[in-house]
Parts: sequence; C-alpha cells; structure tokens
Amino acid sequence: MKWAIRCTLLSGILVVLVGTYEWATRPRTPEALFKTRCAACHELRTDRLCEFPPALRPAIVDTMRHLHEADRVIDDAEAAVIRRYLEESLPCP
Ligand code: HEC
Repeated sequence: MKWAIRCTLLSGILVVLVGTYEWATRPRTPEALFKTRCAACHELRTDRLCEFPPALRPAIVDTMRHLHEADRVIDDAEAAVIRRYLEESLPCP
C-alpha cells in the first residue's frame, strides 16, 4: 500500500515539474514567438521580411501556414500575434 502512495506522490511531483518547465520556457512576448516559431523550419529571414512593406508582412504568416504546413507549428492565436508583430514592431535596418 505504501508503494502506491509513493508512486502517486512521485508522479504528482513529476507532473508539476514538467508543467513548470513548459510554462517557464514558453515564448511569451510577440518577438519571442516570432523567433521560435518562424525559425522552426528555416533561419529567420528577417532581411527578406524587411523587403516587404509592413502592411504586406502579415500575409507571409498565412502563406507559411497554408502552403508550407507551418500550421502544425503555429496555431491561430499565435499566428495573430506574429502577424501583428511583423506589421507593427519588426525592427528593420
Ligand atoms: C513548417 C515549416 C515552416 C515554418 C514554421 C515557417 N516557414 Fe517560412 N518557409 C517554409 C518553406 C518550406 C519555404 C519555401 C522554401 C524555402 O524558401 O526554404 C519558406 C519560405 C519562407 C520565405 C521566403 C523566402 C524567400 O527568400 O523567398 C519567407 C520570407 C518565410 N518563409 C518566412 C517565414 C515566417 C515569417 C515564418 C513564421 C510566421 C515562417 N516562415 C515559418 C517553411 C516554414
């Protein structure tokens, strides 16, 4: 019986640890989201993005999701954040 309690306790602790780790390493800011999600398949290509006028940059996120299967990596909510980041806050030289 004791082992059962011990197992339950240990797996509880494990779940909390893994949860905390995921929470702590999750990208939080729009910039972090852009940097982690958009670098999942290729380098960031900020130079290329900066060649587009800001108003056209959000469409690139949709293109990636529709044509290049980035919807596996970037969900709807994240796409909205990244679209907005690219249009309003992407630092270009
Ligand atoms: C699931 C994989 C994947 C993800 C995630 C992804 N891309 Fe792509 N991307 C591709 C593929 C495949 C191509 C076309 C082949 C190539 O150029 O490497 C491409 C091409 C591009 C190009 C065109 C490059 C050029 O020189 O014409 C840009 C710009 C780009 N991606 C930006 C982004 C941005 C911004 C994000 C984040 C919103 C993103 N990508 C996320 C797979 C991905």
